[in-house]
Amino acid sequence: MTQTLRMTNISKAYPGVQALKNVSLELAEGEVHALVGENGAGKSTLMKILAGAERADSGEIEIGGEPVVIDSPLRAREAGVSLIYQEFNLVPHLNAAENIFLGREPVRMGFVRFAEQRRLASELLDGLGAQVDPRAPVSSLSVAQQQMVEIAKALSINARVIAMDEPSAALTTHEMRNLFQLIRGLKSRGVSVIYISHRLEEIFEICDRLTVLRDGEWIGTWPVSEMSRESVIEKMVGRKITDEFPKERFEPGEELLRVEGLTRGFVKDVSFSVRRGEVAALTGLVGAGRTETARMIFAADRPESGCVYLKDERVSLRNPREAIRRGICLLTEDRKGQGLVLGMKIRENATLPTLERFSNALFIRRAHENAAVGEQMSGLRIKAPSAEVAASALSGGNQQKVVLAKWMLANAELFIFDEPTRGVDVGAKREIYLLMNELLRRGAAILMISSELPEVLGMADRILVMSEGRLVGEMNAAGATQESIMELAVASKNRAA
Ligand SMILES: Nc1ncnc2c1ncn2[C@@H]1O[C@H](COP(=O)(O)OP(=O)(O)OP(=O)(O)O)[C@@H](O)[C@H]1O
Ligand SMILES: [Mg+2]
Repeated sequence: MTQTLRMTNISKAYPGVQALKNVSLELAEGEVHALVGENGAGKSTLMKILAGAERADSGEIEIGGEPVVIDSPLRAREAGVSLIYQEFNLVPHLNAAENIFLGREPVRMGFVRFAEQRRLASELLDGLGAQVDPRAPVSSLSVAQQQMVEIAKALSINARVIAMDEPSAALTTHEMRNLFQLIRGLKSRGVSVIYISHRLEEIFEICDRLTVLRDGEWIGTWPVSEMSRESVIEKMVGRKITDEFPKERFEPGEELLRVEGLTRGFVKDVSFSVRRGEVAALTGLVGAGRTETARMIFAADRPESGCVYLKDERVSLRNPREAIRRGICLLTEDRKGQGLVLGMKIRENATLPTLERFSNALFIRRAHENAAVGEQMSGLRIKAPSAEVAASALSGGNQQKVVLAKWMLANAELFIFDEPTRGVDVGAKREIYLLMNELLRRGAAILMISSELPEVLGMADRILVMSEGRLVGEMNAAGATQESIMELAVASKNRAA
């Protein structure tokens, strides 16, 4: 086995956090190597060091047996290393082609050859099976399309090592298949891939070996074939987790939400209800209209027709502010775009929608606010030196938890969770599920949008299946299986086509 990459005894401290302690990682030629660990374990930090975006305090890197100093992204590129960031790194107002070739534009006689650049970009994107117009500004692309642009960018430098930091978090099942196909292609060309994901199924499918980090320390490296799901989880969290889905069932109470005939755009005639004490899961393939439906309930979009009833009272909410006042909250899937202000502190983010509650006399407010935020931080196990650090300094999963803290503080009654555990590690997922139980116990109702069928089956009481903008089925979680859900979702899609 030829060694492509060796990182030895890498350490890195941030103010208040030892992010990495003597971590080592080896990669063979053509190997797909998983890097796993809980939120804040140090995965992204290790990758940023490899990509020259951060400097290690100590440690060595060898590529192809030669020691290299990677002190800038340019040096990383020269060394044949490319990193696809967890939080994308694209320039929003440039188009896809310009982003792919940023800083390396094909030039002739001092002029950028735009047509050539677009052609190359098209080739790369088509090769990925991505439907992205190279001329489209990146800000107009969906999260999944932006991901494709990132991957195309990495491929364009002919890297020997490509690190992918949670590449699948925003992809549809179909795009995932493409990505795996592509990784197999890279592998056969001898390219080595570092693959970070919280979805263990993916790791068992695509990776050869895995390395576990916990609290910045190297726990071990194993061939994937020698590990089970349970043993990986145990290494990651340092203890056994017996029930991944700690679902508690409550007697359903009063009907909190009912929608009748909700219609807007391609979403047509959606009707269902959610009662106190229950989790209704809205599932289906990505693009089925689930998020669009949620946005109408939250009054982020106005229905063209149809009605929303809260506790049997017909309401016509004009905007999310009114929805929040009526006890509705929406936890969005795109934490960077909608949920979180990265430049703001954890505390400020957490109390953003509820600031009125903390705003009597200034100092009372702050003490009260600190206590409330502190309680959420420990309840959700948000890993940060204090509530006063910027959200941008948190690991991806911990950012997700801050968004959750915000809505916990809002005392909502109807919680709409849109992919609540995306990018969140197993231990923290379980915390979120326990919180759902707690919300139900307090009489809340939960509408959970999720594409992860084990989560839907594990945590829902009732399952609503959407396809092509319509509600195509409703079933009790008790009798449902992954197959029965997928059949509904796909069969009605084929009928529509
Ligand atoms: N710029 C920064 N400033 C201060 N602390 C940071 C910074 N970046 C990361 N950290 C801290 O370093 C630790 C490791 O973070 P890292 O992002 O590497 O975790 P991760 O394993 O990628 O987690 P996740 O699965 O949530 O993405 C965390 O405690 C994080 O808060
Ligand atoms: Mg990370």
